[in-house]
Amino acid sequence: MTSRSARVSAERPFYDLHADAYDALVTDSPEPWVEAVHARLAAAGCHRARVLDAGCGTGRHARGLLDRGYHVELLDASPRLLGLAARRCPGSPAHEADLCGFGLAPRFDAVTCRGVLNDLVTDAERDAALASFARVLRPGGLLFLDVREAGASRVRADGTQRRRTVTLDEGATLSFVSRPRWRDGRLLVAETYELSTPDGRVSVHDYDFEMRPWTADEVRERATVAGFDVREMLPGVGRSTPDRLFVVAARSQ
Ligand SMILES: C[S@@+](CC[C@H](N)C(=O)[O-])C[C@H]1O[C@@H](n2cnc3c(N)ncnc32)[C@H](O)[C@@H]1O
Repeated sequence: MTSRSARVSAERPFYDLHADAYDALVTDSPEPWVEAVHARLAAAGCHRARVLDAGCGTGRHARGLLDRGYHVELLDASPRLLGLAARRCPGSPAHEADLCGFGLAPRFDAVTCRGVLNDLVTDAERDAALASFARVLRPGGLLFLDVREAGASRVRADGTQRRRTVTLDEGATLSFVSRPRWRDGRLLVAETYELSTPDGRVSVHDYDFEMRPWTADEVRERATVAGFDVREMLPGVGRSTPDRLFVVAARSQ
């Protein structure tokens, strides 16, 4: 059965209709994350590790890991984002699959999952994704997470409207407006996408997106239940806002 978050991946305009605009809207450099992962894999002696990038989006981070000599496989539930990632990382196997239950063999030295697990809002999905990661990792394999941290996310969810306008190929512009509010541990984001094409046509789509940030305790508890030892939990790496956690965990031997 497809999870709720996988269905959202295939319908949220950010991940589907306007997937082509993803890289224009998300401009933070992938380098700090890639370097942080690379440093830890190198320290663990995993020089040509097999890495699964779970929730790879457009493959920005997968590309950086490929460039450092890793064998990277791509996984995402959004066909459009996965297609962009596959184009960016030719030769990398690409799996259109649900994080909450996918059937890959346990062949990976590492799983990376950046900015994804907030999209999983139910306890069942969170546990299922972590259990899937444990299943595909070899004993001692490393898990790298980036998640939204609940306390700081709550402070940022002040109902203020944020707008970003980007110019796309052939002169179209996309204006993305988001207004995040906080309710019962969830981030409720009212999104509006306004696409204007050079011939004067304008199309508008509204979408209500929901996320559930994590507390450090929750990360530790769920990861432990799934069979991981949490080794590091630091402020987000390479993030422009201080509302993320960078987590390194090892699959128990
Ligand atoms: C905010 S994006 C992050 C993409 C990329 N990791 C990055 O940092 O740029 C979240 C990604 O998770 C994917 N995703 C969310 N829920 C998923 C699920 N249940 N199964 C597979 N992919 C999922 C979305 O399609 C999207 O590509």
